[in-house]
Amino acid sequence: MRNRRSALAAIAGAASVSLALSACGKSDTGSSEKGGTVGIAMPTRASERWITDGNNVVKDLKDKGYKTRLVYGDDDPDRQVSQIRDLITRGVDALVVAAIDNKALDKVLQEAADADIPVISYDRLILGTQNVDYYASFDNEQVGRLQARYIIDRLGLEDGKGPFNIELFAGSKDDNNTKYFFDGAMELLQPYLDNKQLVVPSGQTALNQVTTLRWDGATARKRMQGILAKSYGIGKVDAVLSPYDGISIGVLAALKSDDYGSGSKPLPVITGQDAELASVKSIIAGQQAQTVYKDLRQLAEVASEMADDVLNDRTPNVNDNSTYDNGSKVVPAYLLQPTSVDKTNYKNVLVGGGYYTAADLK
Ligand code: GAL
Repeated sequence: MRNRRSALAAIAGAASVSLALSACGKSDTGSSEKGGTVGIAMPTRASERWITDGNNVVKDLKDKGYKTRLVYGDDDPDRQVSQIRDLITRGVDALVVAAIDNKALDKVLQEAADADIPVISYDRLILGTQNVDYYASFDNEQVGRLQARYIIDRLGLEDGKGPFNIELFAGSKDDNNTKYFFDGAMELLQPYLDNKQLVVPSGQTALNQVTTLRWDGATARKRMQGILAKSYGIGKVDAVLSPYDGISIGVLAALKSDDYGSGSKPLPVITGQDAELASVKSIIAGQQAQTVYKDLRQLAEVASEMADDVLNDRTPNVNDNSTYDNGSKVVPAYLLQPTSVDKTNYKNVLVGGGYYTAADLK
């Protein structure tokens, strides 16, 4: 038996049937009262998506009869470690963790393991530890492929058009997803860099040259401003590979302050990810071109199911047993599918799918 809940379940099993029945009584909502508490450690409130994630996971676990403790690490890895330690001390039965620095949790997750607390890695894989049980995420390489595919289609690269100028942005170097997004995108873009239909005037094409610490939009804006000043004397930017909406908004700000979006300087094709409200509005306004939508309701449901299954000695449903090696083990994963969204399909996908109302997008 993997965890403390299992031990409790064994004791309950040995008790009288009537006691067991009353212990498993119905809550007000009619869902079964399981009595456990799940600690949820989210990375930041600076981005809308993580607030949605936190709320969704809390709701799904409550619906399953759990109590929850939700904490946000404010993008500070040390703070996240002490928050997780505090959750362990308070006796949570399971942890759902979206890491800030994927390599910073080894020690505290050993403490979780010592207390028999199972860990679900949420969206971002935690690296370098045996003490992560399951991983709930999206097909992260596919996210990058969808961004690249959008650029390829919009620029007409398959029809031989070009050369075009492109600049590349990647996510935070301490987030395991970063390389998956970037590798997925480069798998499709590299042939066009090789045959020079795509040119990177800044010369910055290696992952370690294009990361954006903590996915910070202001950091991306500064980098884009620097690139415009140094590498675009006469040429103009035709496309920007951006891995995340907050970065796209920062890049857009730099471009607009360089007169892009007016007269003879149209905005480049700019990708994104997360379908955050500001970016969907920007897409509708014809500024950011695309985003990759990941249905966070599904992600929360998968992670909550995993926690519930592990706590009840059931094996969670996974669909990937090979991709996510965290350096210590291959973590069994359930990967959801992302969707490319632009001006042509946002209504159908986002409003039709109930993710936003038409009024949200006004
Ligand atoms: C990644 C996540 C992206 C985006 C980014 C910045 O880990 O997969 O969807 O949210 O963090 O928050």
